[in-house]
Amino acid sequence: MNTDNAVATDREAAVTAEVLASFDTTPDARLRAIMHSLVRHLHSFAREVRLTEPEWETAIEFLTRAGHVTDDRRQEFILLSDVLGLSMLTVAINEPDAPGATESTVFGPFFVDDAPEIAQGGDIAQGATGTACHVTGRVRSVTGEPVAGARIDVWEADDDGFYDVQYPDDRTAGRAWLHSGADGGYRFWSVLPAPYPIPHDGPVGDLLTATGRGPMRPAHLHFMVTAPGFRRLITHIFLAEDPYLDSDAVFGVKDSLIVDVGHHNDSPPAGAPTEGPWTSITFDLVLAPGDGH
Ligand code: BEZ
Ligand code: FE
Repeated sequence: MNTDNAVATDREAAVTAEVLASFDTTPDARLRAIMHSLVRHLHSFAREVRLTEPEWETAIEFLTRAGHVTDDRRQEFILLSDVLGLSMLTVAINEPDAPGATESTVFGPFFVDDAPEIAQGGDIAQGATGTACHVTGRVRSVTGEPVAGARIDVWEADDDGFYDVQYPDDRTAGRAWLHSGADGGYRFWSVLPAPYPIPHDGPVGDLLTATGRGPMRPAHLHFMVTAPGFRRLITHIFLAEDPYLDSDAVFGVKDSLIVDVGHHNDSPPAGAPTEGPWTSITFDLVLAPGDGH
């Protein structure tokens, strides 16, 4: 190493050492460990890419724009975490060690708390457009016992790829919750989900464009399932026929969550919201033991 390089290396190491030391007295041990590790990795990233000052400014402008487009209906920072795979890495790190349980995937920004309750066999579409889809299955434990009375929240985009929170009015559509029956069974009507782009008219969209990546998510139906004595399950099911399974913008696809779709031209089951062609999906929701969180 020549002398100039040695001087630069010492200068850089001194900055890192000083910043690390500034967190040494953090009272909370977990926060101290996180800040030490963050500084070590962030500094070594900057050293590895030899970060220039214009690049640092671009990053600050990017984060500033993300802040400006974020409000209570749009969360650009979660979207950034999603496209960087940080959301799915966090899901993977925290996946329970419960063989046979349904795998989790990314929560996404489109859940809302005040969805309507429906009875077994009810319709979550409530005006969301698309081909009717009958969704059935059982909620059970990893040892096969039925889980009665589980709360099943479901939400989805319509066949134009929009969630109700993206509609210009305040309609609720494509979301509801229901309880599993005494045998753990559940059934409801919905519309067959369609692939859609994640919001890409902001800085995260620009990042995808600049890096030659696409914004599309494969079609999916979101589930959140809670029941006393079990870990909360947040997942989706994906359609085997979807063209975007291998290029999900947020890396949420897992093989175990891909389901076949039945396409039917005969009369739908009694209580169907349609007389026309319909589709069907069957998927069991298998819960890991836990404390309801
Ligand atoms: C979603 O599936 O709803 C979603 C997940 C991550 C980013 C955007 C949308
Ligand atoms: Fe979604």
